[in-house]
Amino acid sequence: KRKIIIDTDPGIDDAAALSIALNNPELEVLMLSTVAGNVNLDYTTENAKKILDFFEKDTPLARGNSLPLLREYEDASQFHGETGMNGYDFPTSERHVLPQHSAVAMKEMILKSKDKVTLITIGPLTNAALLLSMYPEVKDKIEEIVIMGGSTIGGNTNTAAEFNIKVDPHAAQMVINSGLPVTIFGLRVTTRALLSKADIEKIKELGEAGEMLHSLFSHYRGGDIYGPGLMMHDICTICYLLEPEIFDYQETQLEVALDGPAAGTTVADLYSRYTEEKNVKLAVDIDQQKFRDWVTAEISKLK
Ligand code: BDR
Ligand code: CA
Repeated sequence: KRKIIIDTDPGIDDAAALSIALNNPELEVLMLSTVAGNVNLDYTTENAKKILDFFEKDTPLARGNSLPLLREYEDASQFHGETGMNGYDFPTSERHVLPQHSAVAMKEMILKSKDKVTLITIGPLTNAALLLSMYPEVKDKIEEIVIMGGSTIGGNTNTAAEFNIKVDPHAAQMVINSGLPVTIFGLRVTTRALLSKADIEKIKELGEAGEMLHSLFSHYRGGDIYGPGLMMHDICTICYLLEPEIFDYQETQLEVALDGPAAGTTVADLYSRYTEEKNVKLAVDIDQQKFRDWVTAEISKLK
């Protein structure tokens, strides 16, 4: 079983990624950590609780940072709705949240694990950067960091920057250059990680969890869900752990612009014109049919 920690800002595609990860028998989710991203930290934490309650999991949950390291915080509630997970009537959660900041909780969890841990980040990288800079001793126990973030095809917040990196570019730069193995899924593949209208209609019929996810999906992008399909950005990271051959990869050097109008933009030196160094493994292609088949199969196995 691969031991993982997921740092997340649920968020609709986060909710879908968490649903799959928490229930797949090949993964052991040691804890969830929440960050301000799609919506503020209170909402992302409440939403993580709701998903854990829904699946009756006792996975520890810790709250992380409510603000990026340096930049002013901006959310993505125009895509994910005011609370980040509108559309399904989750009961109010009484669940306990760990008292420590999630950077501290992650450190403790990683150091006490007997196996190495993989860190999955599907929100801004604030907590991950704090973890690695406050507790560099965890690095020996981290197998890999798998990130949803960045773009080599233009942005989704402006013409250039992807949301998770744009919110906290300094944190992203720290994590990418941590010296640890980093695998990164940017918009080049995640905008093609689509569920079609037919897939989404089918998901509704796949049991209680399918119905729940269908209700959330119906509120994605203000309900405009039937364009070319729904982008399942965050699920790519979980799919990678279980079915890595669905994607193609290239080792490359990735740099993050930290300020000015290009802040949060990622530049990949894909043709090695800038340096021979390589700090990430970048996903560059996706088998779209295999991806959607895999996602629907995983959702069909949920409750
Ligand atoms: C990323 O931003 C969020 O809105 C999604 O949950 C995903 O993590 C895509 O840019
Ligand atoms: Ca996310």
